[in-house]
Amino acid sequence: MNPQVDNSVVTTTVTLISALVLLAAVLFMGASLIGVIGDIPLDDGSRKQAAILERIKPVSQVSFEQPKPVVAVQLSGKEVYDKVCAACHVAGTLGAPKVGDKAAWEPRLAQGMDTLVNHALNGIRAMPAKGGDPSLTEGNMKDAIVYMLGESGIKVEAAPAEATTPAPTAAAPTPPPAPAESN
Ligand code: HEC
Repeated sequence: MNPQVDNSVVTTTVTLISALVLLAAVLFMGASLIGVIGDIPLDDGSRKQAAILERIKPVSQVSFEQPKPVVAVQLSGKEVYDKVCAACHVAGTLGAPKVGDKAAWEPRLAQGMDTLVNHALNGIRAMPAKGGDPSLTEGNMKDAIVYMLGESGIKVEAAPAEATTPAPTAAAPTPPPAPAESN
């Protein structure tokens, strides 16, 4: 056999095989690339990443935001009392009627609830307006007074916070008298 021919056959064969291998590799990569692309919408790792971020998020954050003003009307009578009124009304500081001292509160209540609310709202003698907390509302005053009276053993119906409910309207007109029986 001619070694020259022999050589060229081998070269051709090697080239052919290489080309086939290369083609296979390209097809394989293409196929796997399609697979990867197909996978992206299913799991692109973003959910996992969100979970990680959630796990490693800082325990606390320093915020320079101004604290929002307390929405005073949302406080209950007890909360207003604990926060503001108790400072004087527990011990009777400055001559404040003590909570729990029914005898001290009865003559006060005798003035009428509206007067008490008004005095709490605007202050009277050593009693500062709104107990000294201007963020409080008229409703807060009323709730706190109702609470203090209740704790002193005086039961007052707790009206809705705004205390602006109109007085109940006059009684409904009396129904016309039933027709006299004819007999
Ligand atoms: C700095 C002390 C102080 C604080 C705080 C305070 N009070 Fe008083 N309060 C007084 C004193 C003193 C009096 C008695 C005033 C007087 O009759 O001379 C009084 C009296 C009252 C009276 C009776 C008023 C009247 O007409 O007889 C009411 C009602 C009252 N306070 C409600 C409140 C409420 C509600 C709060 C909380 C929001 C509050 N007070 C917080 C000191 C205080």
